[in-house]
Amino acid sequence: MIRSIEQLDISGKRLFIRVDFNVPLDKKTGKVKDDARIRAALPTIQYAIERRAKVILASHLGRPDGKVVPEMSLEPAGSVLSRLLGRDVIFADDCVGDGVRKLVGELREGQVLLLENLRFHAEEEANDDEFSRELASLAEVYVDDAFGTVHRAHASTVGMVKHVAQRGAGFLVSSELKHLQPLLKGAAKPYLAILGGAKVSDKIKVIDQLIGKVDALLIGGAMAYTFLQARGVAVGASRVEKDKIDVARRILERARAEVLLPVDHVVASEPKGGIPTQVVSTIPDGQLGLDIGPKTSELYRQRIVGAQTIFWNGPMGMFEVSEYAAGTRAVADALVEATRRGAQTVVGGGDSAAAIAEFGLADKVTHVSTGGGASLEFLEGRELPGVKVLDDAA
Ligand code: 3PG
Repeated sequence: MIRSIEQLDISGKRLFIRVDFNVPLDKKTGKVKDDARIRAALPTIQYAIERRAKVILASHLGRPDGKVVPEMSLEPAGSVLSRLLGRDVIFADDCVGDGVRKLVGELREGQVLLLENLRFHAEEEANDDEFSRELASLAEVYVDDAFGTVHRAHASTVGMVKHVAQRGAGFLVSSELKHLQPLLKGAAKPYLAILGGAKVSDKIKVIDQLIGKVDALLIGGAMAYTFLQARGVAVGASRVEKDKIDVARRILERARAEVLLPVDHVVASEPKGGIPTQVVSTIPDGQLGLDIGPKTSELYRQRIVGAQTIFWNGPMGMFEVSEYAAGTRAVADALVEATRRGAQTVVGGGDSAAAIAEFGLADKVTHVSTGGGASLEFLEGRELPGVKVLDDAA
């Protein structure tokens, strides 16, 4: 059984909360560009403050590979958190060592301390036991609220947990699991999965898992061209994973679910904006598909608004460039419409979460996951080490 933070005795205790503040920073100003992950952790942090816990927050940011990289400091995230909470957040310039122990020792009930980037120490990703024990020694209670990192078996997500007396899940981890679990078992039908993004190879395991559960699979993004090629359709100069054509063919042949592929495309001669584009049904030689076309958008929209459960992962085209954003926008709009009609709509983390946030529609669907890799691994049916370790029975 995984206990929720509400079932733990945190009052007056040193409470270590693993959060995922791995947020994008502006290269020029160093400021946080998107604070969604910080906001997502607020309910747990606020609850801990209200219960008068001594709150110790820890996270990674980026991939500094065990070295101190000042551009990957968590200090900007601390400033955002302080503003959002409307209170001081004490910032430690490391995550272990005498200085940190002193700050933790001085922490008063209801105060918040944010530790520096865990990955400035190589021992974090190595899940080193000594480092794990050192982190664990800071706390009496451990709560994981870093859903985006539960697929990593690192010191702060796995190693330290067994060394802390009480452990459990924060509100974000609980909510993510609550929304993702039905996608593998017991989803209301019709059930659709919309998969996009660049590579078939990233999505094969998810397709294998979902194909027996969904009523239809709608495919877009660059991966659609590998599937079209597998069906013998000409794709011009579009991006195709040649070594995955057989896999795509096998999926199409064996699928019990209906698999929908784009019927028209927005094409150009190069994958960039500011050059002539056209909408075509058959991609001419020398042109490459960069978005699904309007007919496909309408076809997909009709299916989406008629479904009861919809999972979406991966953009329909190169949505970062305005000329190729319409297909992704159409899917996002259709998801909002389906939500209004009572469907459960879940958006996987990563690019699709970024897209729906950019369109300002993130709060108009049932759930947007904060975990790109984590939500995909969950839907591949894999055990998430950071979740398993919270289970007292495991
Ligand atoms: C993410 O952004 O997906 C998580 O924070 C995990 O980061 P990682 O892929 O660097 O482990």
